[in-house]
Amino acid sequence: MNRDDPASWSGEPAEFDDYAAGYEGGLDNPVKRMMGNSADQFIAVKTRWLLRREPKLRTGGLAVLDYGCGVGSLMRVLAETGARADFTGCDISAGMLRQVEKRWPAKLGKTPVLAPQQGARTPFADGQFDIATISAVLHHVPVAERPAVYAELGRVLKPGGRIYVFEHNPRNPLVRYVIARTPIDRNAILLDPTEVRHGLLDVARYDLDTDYLMFMPPGLAFLRSVDRALTWLPLGAQYVVAARKPA
Ligand SMILES: C[S@@+](CC[C@H](N)C(=O)[O-])C[C@H]1O[C@@H](n2cnc3c(N)ncnc32)[C@H](O)[C@@H]1O
Repeated sequence: MNRDDPASWSGEPAEFDDYAAGYEGGLDNPVKRMMGNSADQFIAVKTRWLLRREPKLRTGGLAVLDYGCGVGSLMRVLAETGARADFTGCDISAGMLRQVEKRWPAKLGKTPVLAPQQGARTPFADGQFDIATISAVLHHVPVAERPAVYAELGRVLKPGGRIYVFEHNPRNPLVRYVIARTPIDRNAILLDPTEVRHGLLDVARYDLDTDYLMFMPPGLAFLRSVDRALTWLPLGAQYVVAARKPA
């Protein structure tokens, strides 16, 4: 396998290989489409939160891993909204990683470094990244395999580094309705922030906090201040668990 050439990656096809070419972030679901007219609007809720939380993303120099990056939307929307980081993406699906290269706009400069996962495992060095994001991935990982993902995120993170786990909030009834009717989520097992916090704490003594996101349809920009005022309320469609590794 040539790590620089996703076309040469071998191995069992991953579940998401089947969805890679047409992947549009679940927007095939009519209820989700009513809330926003592009998948990027949903991703941008997370990237705006990240840019507020990590202002240094704008100035450059941070090494950022997007674990289970899919077609690279989180990295791309981050870059399009002002992030100047050194991006690396990994995924178990070679088909998804090939899409990152295809979809990365030339105006954003070089494509992120891309690498295939072997299960939970990545080829990165210990302590390589300042920030690791994992967005809408864990609910696709079988429960028994999730500890290996938390361990891997902790391994590749520098001391003092941060992990941001974005997930669908199972307490939100509309989320459960949409997930139950979206083909790509047929094997999904949703998880709440408590499970994420416990999973992370089994690996290291992280400082943890949780914000809730996406109370309002992401297409309605004039309601963003409502979202920002409600991050404490455990009913948003999404949540983010933020973890800081001990220095
Ligand atoms: C719903 S997509 C989300 C993609 C991207 N993070 C985003 O927010 O757009 C889930 C991704 O997780 C990847 N993934 C990584 N590790 C996985 C695992 N152990 N089991 C299932 N999916 C996994 C899938 O291949 C897929 O690309």
